Amino acid sequence: KQIARLPEALLAWYEKNARPLPWRETTDPYRVWLSEIMLQQTRVEAVKQYYTRFLNDLPTISALAAAPDDQLFKLWEGLGYYTRAKNLKKAAITIVEKFGGVFPQTYEDILSLPGVGDYTAGAVASICFNLPTPAVDGNVLRVVTRITELFAPIHQPAVKKEISRALAACYPKGRCGDFTQSLMELGATVCIPNGAPNCSVCPANGFCRAHANGTQLALPVRPAK
Ligand code: ADE
Repeated sequence: KQIARLPEALLAWYEKNARPLPWRETTDPYRVWLSEIMLQQTRVEAVKQYYTRFLNDLPTISALAAAPDDQLFKLWEGLGYYTRAKNLKKAAITIVEKFGGVFPQTYEDILSLPGVGDYTAGAVASICFNLPTPAVDGNVLRVVTRITELFAPIHQPAVKKEISRALAACYPKGRCGDFTQSLMELGATVCIPNGAPNCSVCPANGFCRAHANGTQLALPVRPAK
């Protein structure tokens, strides 16, 4: 199956082609978690500056837990979706009170934090704790539906679940974080949504069914409106 061929192809490509991003220089779960929350609704280029400033002012989980709301909102000003900032502080307080100030280290415990859904929990668990937990967002759904030429509508929860399960089954031992980020990176820079994807430089072009059949732009299938 095509998915099983992804780790080898993507890891080699990622080593050479990963963009240098500040949150890729660390596996500190506080930092990675913050980056993933910021990246949920904000572009990479905009997040960079907010991320660095936020960590300058609030360098630890306990600093975030104790931060006054006005300081927190000032750091968030311009990013929008302030629920994210409120949940960050709530989660930091939860970590201090319930986890003894240590960022939780299992997928389930990470998922239990306010504002953390299955995407963020999968990203943090794989990047920080080397667990085989995929982070399936729109980028990753696009990559996988194209290489497998899966025409099932991706808004159906069963489809996303099946893709998560198939990815989890092929996670490379010891390289879980890099594999998660290589999938994101391919979706962000090569297997792109609008216009023509850059198939000629894609490390999966030798086994991608959409590329073989010229169906890239028909995938993924979105709900009919
Ligand atoms: N989008 C979501 N998570 C990301 C990450 N870790 N790196 C780049 N873009 C992302």
